[in-house]
Amino acid sequence: MAFPLSDYGYSSKQEVLDDAKRYWNPDKTAFWQDEGIPLVIGEREGYVLTDLDGHRLIDMHLNGGTYNIGHRNPRAIAALTRALEHADVGNHHFPAVARTALARELVRTAPEGIEKVVFGSSGGESVDLAIKSARWATGRRRIVSIRKAYHGHTGLSIGAGDERFSRLFHADRSDEFVQVPFNDLDAMAEVLAAGDVAAVILETIPATYGFPLPDPGYLAAVAELAHRTGALYIADEVQTGLMRTGALWAITKSGAQPDIIVTGKGLGGGIYPVTAALLNGRAAGWLEVDGFAHMATFGGSEVGAAVALEVLDIVTAPETVANVRRQSARLADAFAELMIRFPGALVGIRQDGLVIGLEFSPAIGGAKPVMRGLYERGVWAIFSTLDPVVLQFKPGLLVDDDTVDQAVAALTGTLESLAVPA
Ligand SMILES: Cc1ncc(COP(=O)(O)O)c(C=O)c1O
Repeated sequence: MAFPLSDYGYSSKQEVLDDAKRYWNPDKTAFWQDEGIPLVIGEREGYVLTDLDGHRLIDMHLNGGTYNIGHRNPRAIAALTRALEHADVGNHHFPAVARTALARELVRTAPEGIEKVVFGSSGGESVDLAIKSARWATGRRRIVSIRKAYHGHTGLSIGAGDERFSRLFHADRSDEFVQVPFNDLDAMAEVLAAGDVAAVILETIPATYGFPLPDPGYLAAVAELAHRTGALYIADEVQTGLMRTGALWAITKSGAQPDIIVTGKGLGGGIYPVTAALLNGRAAGWLEVDGFAHMATFGGSEVGAAVALEVLDIVTAPETVANVRRQSARLADAFAELMIRFPGALVGIRQDGLVIGLEFSPAIGGAKPVMRGLYERGVWAIFSTLDPVVLQFKPGLLVDDDTVDQAVAALTGTLESLAVPA
């Protein structure tokens, strides 16, 4: 079935591109054209995207995990459709059936200590909620994150992220937000020693930074340091959560005890936006005192909650977990072989389950030419914004052998065309 362009008053892809430049985002629209990625997504199903011009792409980025369970997953659509028979967004002031059930399920499946859930409709909003909760709990203002962190673009989350984004909008507030190098425990200890930090926020594996893996023991030691100095530990699991690493929350594999877990992206199944901050008793204190202290009309919408409950059921199913393990192992083997075959091109593999960053040599121009080569060969995977030698390669949780094999074949073909002699 062709995408119904005419429903929107268009008769060609070019018209859409022209209007996107005129009415939406001229710079971003031009950027992709210049990069050789003239994508306007039309039909989408499972792990396949089809451009309006018919170009077919296996989606190996999934918008950071938004489409973990595939595009337009039939079970997610059915959950939304069923919910729409009797509910809508709901009213955020009142207790609601689906929202309460989702909060209960998130607490039931969370690590020990998590007691309550606050909902948002974007990852950034839930990061803001996490920061606000930590500030309330500690009576302190300072937030520590890592350099090249990415936590979103909302009021507080942008301050915790890289200055590439915060400076532009005068949101770089060095009095409130401190950044230290990743995997540098001494630097972390030094800022925490002042005893004025409300929270440390860390992506369990920093995605936009290119998936550098935490050193063994690093995350647990940071959490320990935070607690010893009275600060909270916020695990940003917007990209690493929801079973991508073979655990529902990747932080549980690190030995770190989080006070707050932030989730988003895939929680809404790519169908309806819903995000959450999962809070322990200390972080959730404000909810006992002033339940009207944070409000969001769409936070924890009832139909979104219905979809998220279905998503949790899908991602925690034993067969899903088994598939994550199987495809992770198959990909690890394939990448190891490619690294031996193309040593001058593929120079690093950063993998935890289906969270994968592939590091390419500057000698071939880093990850961008690989992204283009894959695009031409029918695979979509994007470079890492804050470290463009790394390609974000993130298959879905339900991906099958054949799709993985096709993607690996496209990567092999791309490297054959780009590789420099070893
Ligand atoms: C780790 C992480 N945290 C937070 C966010 C912000 O999520 P959103 O774009 O839904 O605001 C993102 C988005 O990519 C992310 O990758």
